[in-house]
Amino acid sequence: MQLSIIRPTLPSLSEITQLVGPSWDSGTVTVGPTVRALEEEVCQRTGAQYSVALSSCTSGLMMIPGALGLPPGKEVVVPSFTFAATAQALLWNGLIPVFCDSLPGTCTIDPEDIERNLSPDTAAICGVSIFGLPPDNDALIELGRRKGLPVYFDSAQGLGATYQGRPLGGFGACEIFSMSPTKVVTAVEGGLLTTNDRTLAERIRSMRDYGKDPVKGEEMHHLGLSARMSELHAAVGLLSLRRISELVKARKELISIYRDRLGRLPGCWVQTFPADRTTSGNYFVLFITDSAKQSRDEVYESLKAAGIQTKRYFYPPVHEQPLFQRFPMRVSVNLQHTTKISREGLALPLYSHTTLEEMNHVCSLVEQLLG
Ligand SMILES: Cc1ncc(COP(=O)(O)O)c(C=O)c1O
Repeated sequence: MQLSIIRPTLPSLSEITQLVGPSWDSGTVTVGPTVRALEEEVCQRTGAQYSVALSSCTSGLMMIPGALGLPPGKEVVVPSFTFAATAQALLWNGLIPVFCDSLPGTCTIDPEDIERNLSPDTAAICGVSIFGLPPDNDALIELGRRKGLPVYFDSAQGLGATYQGRPLGGFGACEIFSMSPTKVVTAVEGGLLTTNDRTLAERIRSMRDYGKDPVKGEEMHHLGLSARMSELHAAVGLLSLRRISELVKARKELISIYRDRLGRLPGCWVQTFPADRTTSGNYFVLFITDSAKQSRDEVYESLKAAGIQTKRYFYPPVHEQPLFQRFPMRVSVNLQHTTKISREGLALPLYSHTTLEEMNHVCSLVEQLLG
């Protein structure tokens, strides 16, 4: 049995053509009625007041600093245990990432380490959902309020997650979700910015279209991108979004099988799920410590040889990535948890439609290696 690490759960081509048909026939093939329907649906489902559909989460991350008015040369606090795009977007804006440590259980950014690393140059704080689990949103937002700093969220992996009973989408200055093929809800490619700030939403709406004035289209008002979402992508995204409860539920069930069977293997541990939040179930990561029967990298190689694709995730941590050595950055004095979890984490195959036979096959192989 060959298994890739991810496989998107996609609507059928006939459903897509049926939904996008009217736009296709009218010639409005980008930012038309299907994009607007997707934006409305995400507002309804997340409780956020405004939503802007984009070409990717990365394009959203690139535009957020400009939309928030963060001046180049200032610092933005991010976790180092994240996907590189969180911090790459800062480099595009001439901002300096300040890499903080993450908590050893949830693997989300450590609010106390953020506070220790604030400086007179700090311009914003960015929290990140890790494998689908939100960070401690309240602690971050409260810290931002106390220090007068905007807090925004890279919720790329978090669509479908909740924090204190509320769906992600309406927290902080804004949130940005990814709809790439690796995500629970996919538009093939895409991003969704959500916010309760009308001015910010309007700015991002203009910025996704080169920064155009919405009325006088010839005038450019913001430093923008070409980051619109096409009608075709929106149709896929809308059909996927309508299935979000079913997709998240399926993943949570699969994750609990993984946790039950693999989480207690000697020298292994799994992400902590605090009672105040739920995960979207984007990834299942098994952490394999030095005291396990084999190292994380040996398990990675053995599974690869057996036809099972896994991912060392997130690895290396962002502050160690070669790209970042060529740009100014600041690194917390103590990234001990980041270093450890990055060295131990191995993401295993997980799709909303993984079969029990596939789950059993992966679990049995891992048990043979580590049991
Ligand atoms: C935490 C995080 N941020 C940003 C991104 C980038 O998303 P996109 O591929 O939609 O640009 C990802 C994608 O995997 C991610 O996991």
